Amino acid sequence: MLQLFKKPVPVAQAVKQNVWDNLKSLDHFTEGNITTLERLFEDATDKHGFLAQLSKFCVARPRLIKLIDTPYFSKKHSGSPVYDLIIAACNYGSGNLVRSEEAVLRHANDSTPFFPLLLARIYRASGDAEKESSALDAALERFPVDLFTLLSKSEFELFQGNTANANAYLEKVKPAVIEFLQAEIDAIKDSSEDLRSAIREGMLSRSSKFDVYSDDVTRATWLGYFERFLTQNKFQSGDGFLIDYLDNALTAFCKKENIKAVLDFGSLCAEIIARPAKKLPHTQFIGIDRQEFVATMNYEAYDLPNMAFESGDIIDYLPKFGEIQGKKVFFHVRTTCLLYPALIKKIYSSARAAGVEYIIMWEGDGLSREHLQFFNFDDMPEESIARKSVLFNHNYKAILNETGYEIIEFVRPAFPAIYKDINDLVGSAVYIVAKLQK
Ligand SMILES: C[S@@+](CC[C@H](N)C(=O)[O-])C[C@H]1O[C@@H](n2cnc3c(N)ncnc32)[C@H](O)[C@@H]1O
Repeated sequence: MLQLFKKPVPVAQAVKQNVWDNLKSLDHFTEGNITTLERLFEDATDKHGFLAQLSKFCVARPRLIKLIDTPYFSKKHSGSPVYDLIIAACNYGSGNLVRSEEAVLRHANDSTPFFPLLLARIYRASGDAEKESSALDAALERFPVDLFTLLSKSEFELFQGNTANANAYLEKVKPAVIEFLQAEIDAIKDSSEDLRSAIREGMLSRSSKFDVYSDDVTRATWLGYFERFLTQNKFQSGDGFLIDYLDNALTAFCKKENIKAVLDFGSLCAEIIARPAKKLPHTQFIGIDRQEFVATMNYEAYDLPNMAFESGDIIDYLPKFGEIQGKKVFFHVRTTCLLYPALIKKIYSSARAAGVEYIIMWEGDGLSREHLQFFNFDDMPEESIARKSVLFNHNYKAILNETGYEIIEFVRPAFPAIYKDINDLVGSAVYIVAKLQK
């Protein structure tokens, strides 16, 4: 059996250096691991941080509880925050939400909001917005000035479409959020200025210092997505949630509308389109990215007769896509958030010229580090704003309308992670279906 520590070290040092690395090599938690973690938790000065780290660790490794999720262990340890969190997070990671809820409920009346907020997330994962709302309100009543509780409520309101309420809750904790995001707030100024001048000048290509997708980064990102798409489910990570959501949405849409071809712009790892492609043999799925080696990597990974991969400029390829007969979808995921609005307009106009009937997208829409508030499309201060790092939020409603498309479906999908840190809580994405206007 593997030990947590090879030799005793002071607790503070152990937490930093050894514990998590050693836990990673376990096949399953044992009595020794639990008691050690309980002792470390007792001594931890940042108990929230400790539980946050433990929940993230466990949600990714559900198999770790095969020994301890038994009456023998629960009789001894149930009621301990560490044990119950391990049971809750591992069960959550495997989608066993009932068992996860049972463990969290034992801490519903704790003196901190950590477990009450977990409960709200479990209800979200079960698809029960009413229970999620009640759990959040109960937490707010008990912890009215707590940062995580107010941000969780703000996030809930945003996902419900109540942007003004989301901003009102965010406002109550603005100073703490600013302090937490200060480095990103400072960094956005450059990108924001660059975006404004690009809009003024109608620039199409991104200034080179903001174009982060070098060959090395692109290869590494492909591999990272491939790994997460294949190994993580919708409860375990944002990528797991995204791919599950898009698989269901795109498959249902293509079936309902009898779609003949889907073009995935900025495909990178093509797992996102491979899942619907397996179920829809009569729909053609084409992934396109800039570099040729992306197409090669996708051909190596996906060998389906109804999938093909292209490389090069999307504007050059769109007329060829237009030659395919039947209804066509132009699809992009986390791609236009990297582009200037003038290029998006040019691309959508070319899609329209190619007879593309639908545009479907999943793009980020989280908190702008410049404006520090959430927006509906109609309230955006400019047609595109800098979000964070090199990413933009665009007014897709205006851009689509200007290029001949109209939004027929709009969702802010609510990722149900069991634990969310501040960055996660101010994140958001939009899923949009737009139709060609007659
Ligand atoms: C963040 S990745 C998204 C990958 C994939 N759609 C996903 O969500 O998993 C963005 C992709 O867009 C591509 N991209 C960025 N700017 C582009 C441009 N101007 N033209 C074509 N592709 C671009 C990049 O090469 C990269 O593969």
